[in-house]
Formats: sequence, C-alpha cells, structure tokens
Amino acid sequence: MERKAAYANLAKWFEYLNDDCDYENWSQYLIEKLRAFPLKNGLDVGCGGGWFTRAFHRAGYTMTGLDVSAEMLDFAQAQAVKEGARGEYLLGDITKFRTPKKFTFVTAINDCINYIPKNKLSAVMKNIKNALTKGGVLLFDVSSPCKFRNKIANTVSVDDRDDVTYMSFNREEQDGATLDVTLFVKRPDGAYERLDETHRQYLYTEEELTAALTENGFTLLEVTGHLGEDKTTSDRLVFLAQK
Ligand SMILES: C[S@@+](CC[C@H](N)C(=O)[O-])C[C@H]1O[C@@H](n2cnc3c(N)ncnc32)[C@H](O)[C@@H]1O
Repeated sequence: MERKAAYANLAKWFEYLNDDCDYENWSQYLIEKLRAFPLKNGLDVGCGGGWFTRAFHRAGYTMTGLDVSAEMLDFAQAQAVKEGARGEYLLGDITKFRTPKKFTFVTAINDCINYIPKNKLSAVMKNIKNALTKGGVLLFDVSSPCKFRNKIANTVSVDDRDDVTYMSFNREEQDGATLDVTLFVKRPDGAYERLDETHRQYLYTEEELTAALTENGFTLLEVTGHLGEDKTTSDRLVFLAQK
C-alpha cells in the first residue's frame, strides 16, 4: 500500500468534504477582522484549495496564495480560473519562504500552523514578519489543545458519501497527532479506488504561539475562539497580531 504525502490525494476532495465548515460565514468573520486595518494585498499561507484566498479577493484584496502541496495548488489555480478570481499562486514551504515582495497582511487559516514542526515555528514567524510591511497584520488560527484532546487524539473520523468515503485514523503523539487518511473514491465503472496518505499535526498552546510571535517582533492584538467563541472551549484559537 502506497502512502502519499498530506493532501496528495485529499486535495481534489478537501473543499467538498469540508462543506459543513460554513466557509462563507467563516470567511466573512475573518474579513471583518481585516477591515479594521487599511490593508491592500495579502499572502494566504497554506491556501490549500484557495477558498479563503478567493473570498479575500472578492472582498477587494489583491491576493497571493502559498502552499507546499502541488496538488492543493493545482486545485486552487483551477478553481480561481473557474470562478474568475484573479490571484497569484505560489508553490512553497513557509518554513523556508523568502520574498522580495511585501504584503500588508498574511493569513494562515484552518490549521496550516498545526503542520509546522515545533523546531520550525519561530522560523515561520520570522519569514512571515519579513514578508510584511511595517504595521502589517497577521491573522491565523490553529486547532486548539482542547480539540486535540477531545476530537483528534486516538479517534477515528469517517465521512461516508456516495462518490467518496473519507476515513482518518488518528494517533496521539507526544507533541500532536499522526493522522492516517484513507479515501475510497468511486470510479466511472462503479468500483472504488483506495488512496492513502499521512498527515502529521503539532499541538500548539496559546502560550507557545504568543512567545513565537513576540520573540519575532509582533505585537499580539487578540486571541479568540473560532468565530468569537470562548477560547477556553473552542475548537480553534484565532490570533491577530501586528508587525
Ligand atoms: C487544512 S489545510 C487548509 C487549506 C485552506 N486554508 C482551507 O482552509 O481551505 C492546511 C494547508 O496547509 C498547507 N501547509 C502545510 N504545511 C505547510 C507549509 N510548511 N508551507 C505552506 N503550506 C503548508 C497544506 O498543504 C494544506 O493545504
């Protein structure tokens, strides 16, 4: 059985399988946060299939999407063309990202930072800071420690649909979790093809992320839960910081 890198198979199905996350409401909530600042152009780190990148473009910002997965980026580019949402899409790893271009804001929405190994978090914050203009804004979220404890660690999640079945077997690790993801995708002849990939995610506390921000020259403006929920019980921690 061949196990591919995270999102190699899932890329085509990610936004479809996530249709219950209410991307519309979620992106509007984030856009309202951005609107508090005079922002023009943004870098969406871990843009994946590009849902948020396109939503920020529709809200009037000039957008660049960055992702380490070529398959996610292919999906994002095709979808942007389909929806007539202009934007630049770059294949790259935020742990090594350098750019001569400056952005007035950077976003990393829906767990991208959970994929960053602990020893690379500070480098990521530094690379983001270097990509921002002075006064530039960073808006990102992570899956919260309580989500890891209650919904990820040593669980199995399943989404069974007619055209695709998603299964994720999640093992707790000392610093996060390993997710073995299997998809069964229906082929035109009615048979199902099995596809496997592995995701490694890291659990970050509010304190660890706050330290990484402040030691890299950011001012932390707020930490909230998902869509303004109570951050002690929410599935997400949402950080707003300024260079
Ligand atoms: C859960 S997906 C979210 C995608 C998108 N933001 C969305 O919500 O639809 C996380 C994304 O982060 C990307 N990612 C993980 N590590 C990364 C890295 N080091 N540099 C850039 N992107 C990364 C993954 O490839 C994936 O597309």
